[in-house]
This record gives sequence, C-alpha cells and structure tokens, in this order.
Amino acid sequence: MRVLVITGSTRPVRVGDQLTEQVVRIAKEAGLDDVDVADLRDVALPLLDEPQMAATRVYLNEHTRAWSARVNSADAVVLISPQYNFGYPAGLKNAIDYLFAEWRGKPGLLVSYGARGGIQSYDQLAQVLRFVGLVLDPLGVQLVLPRDAYSEHGTLIDPAVVVEPYADELRAAFVRLADAVGADATPDSPVAVPAGAIEAGDRVVTAFNAHDPVAFADAFAGDGWFTDVLRHRAATNAEIEELHRFAFAGPLAQASLEVTGRRSRLLSSTAAVLELDWTSTGHAGADGDVAQRRGVLALVVSKNVPSGRWEVVSGINNDYTHAYSADPLGRAPERPV
Ligand SMILES: Cc1cc2nc3c(=O)[nH]c(=O)nc-3n(C[C@H](O)[C@H](O)[C@H](O)COP(=O)(O)O)c2cc1C
Repeated sequence: MRVLVITGSTRPVRVGDQLTEQVVRIAKEAGLDDVDVADLRDVALPLLDEPQMAATRVYLNEHTRAWSARVNSADAVVLISPQYNFGYPAGLKNAIDYLFAEWRGKPGLLVSYGARGGIQSYDQLAQVLRFVGLVLDPLGVQLVLPRDAYSEHGTLIDPAVVVEPYADELRAAFVRLADAVGADATPDSPVAVPAGAIEAGDRVVTAFNAHDPVAFADAFAGDGWFTDVLRHRAATNAEIEELHRFAFAGPLAQASLEVTGRRSRLLSSTAAVLELDWTSTGHAGADGDVAQRRGVLALVVSKNVPSGRWEVVSGINNDYTHAYSADPLGRAPERPV
C-alpha cells in the first residue's frame, strides 16, 4: 500500500516539514512503509494555469501531468495542514484544484496543526476534500503546537516532543487508513463515533448513579447547558452542579438510572449527538412517586481542543413516563414499563 503524504506549508521558515517527518516516522512504525512525501514547496506548482477544468482530464502542462501521476499512484493520501487565519494554506487548495478524479475514492487522513490544533483549518479542508471524493478518516488528528515549543528562529525546538502526545492517535489513524484501503470504502461509508464521545455520556450516567453533583457537572463543558425533566434550566457548569446538589439531596436521593438503549451520530471530527434511553427507580416526583420511570437523555458532545476530552455542551432530559397522549404519527402510545 502506497501512501502519499502531502506537506501543506511552503513557507521558507516553517514547522510543516518537521511535523511531516514525525508523522512519517509514526506511519512507518504502524506498518506503512511505502511512503511518498510530497512537500508542496518542492512540488512547486504555479498558481493553477491549466486552461481546462481538471474534471476534463485535459492537462497541457508537464507539472500537472507529473502531479496527477503522483497522486494516482497512491492508495491513500495523508495531508498535513497548518492553520492560517482560520483556514488552510492557499498552496494546498491550489494543489487540490489541479486535479479532480485522482482524489476520488481514495482513503485520506487529515492532520492539522496550530495553536489550538488548527481545528478551523481542519474543518474547512475536510469539506473540500470530501467534495473531491477523498474518503476521509472521520476523526483525523489535530496537533496543538504550544507557543513555547517554538525556538526564536520559528521552528520547533523538538518536534518529536510536540508529536509524542498524539502518537497513539496517529498510529490508530494509520491502522484505520490501511483498513480503509482494504475495505474499498466509499465516500458515503458510515463513520464510527469515537469512544471518547460515548464516554462523555457515560460520565453523566455514572455521576447520576453516584449522586455526585460535582462529577455530574464535570461531564459538561464549563459553559454547557442542561435542562432536566422538570424543565429546570442550567446554563453553566456551576448552575448544573447547583441544580444537582439540590436534586441528589432531595427528589433524586434514592434514584438509580439504567441505560437501556443508545443511539449516536458523529457530526464532525469534534461533535456528536447521543441519545440514551433510560429507566429509573427511586425518583420522588412532584406528582407522587412512580416505581419506575423512563425517558431519553439527549446530549450534544464536543471534543475540547486542546485537552482532547469530549464534553457535553448541551443536555436535555425527557421523562416519557406520563406521555399517554396519542402519537400524531399513529404509533403505539408510550406507557410506563
Ligand atoms: C499567515 C499566518 C496565519 C496564521 N493564523 C493562525 C490561526 O488562525 N490560528 C493559529 O492557531 N495559528 C495561526 N498561525 C500560526 C501557525 O499555525 C504557525 O505559525 C505554524 O507554525 C504554521 O505552520 P508552518 O510553520 O508549517 O507554516 C498563522 C501563521 C501564519 C503564517
């Protein structure tokens, strides 16, 4: 399996080549030994100068034919992109626009970097790459470059130290990339929700069952939102903790929750939605105790860059115990179990 690794930065003084070296080292450790590094500074494509659109595959220039052959010969593509002004470098877009069908159907992995992982660069570039048909790894890797990692000359003092915290993530991504080459993936293949996102939902449930308001609030982002089954609203981490300090000392003191069903969907490399079906016992409700209640907890979770931790940014809990009214779609009404 041949992997084309594209260095997206072309500046005379840069870190992109240093990061590429580390990423390639880890790719080889993961078993990908046929790696072709295309440093766009050396590829030196002029600003797109083909008279016809790439979709026609009519290439007049030798540099276009050479670039086309190079991308064509790869089974998978890894792009390493910095973040410039909330976007990705123009040179990278130029190199993409030179071709079209060459990208289509190839498994791809995007590695972005910047002060906060280059997340905007990542999201914008991912959109472009998906459009040209690269079958992009759903997670990618976002490398956070701390200010003190740079020397006074503008390069990284020790690129291996900067990349080390991401080594496992990169290795796992390369394994997925190799699997995708074997699997004949299509641009529409469903994407798995990462374990960290699922765990963010589980932290809420574990804290609920431990009746621990601090742990409950800690599963949320600092500015996370939560609405409980009685429509109490909390708009910050501190309010979520306060709401549950009251609830766990009172109406939920005996409550115990069991997750009976899960649904999840990845929305971007850093956002997912989860739905947790639950049944519970021990709720003391304003409308009298009910032996067993049921509902669904809807969560929006987001990956915090740079910490890498998935957190709940919005949670809405719904109690279906008393939802007896007729379903407008004519389905069987919900009843207490
Ligand atoms: C034109 C330009 C714009 C930048 N804008 C951002 C930015 O929006 N966000 C960020 O985190 N870093 C930004 N940076 C810092 C870069 O991420 C950092 O300089 C990085 O080393 C650039 O990669 P390179 O050295 O491989 O070119 C910017 C750098 C440049 C040169």
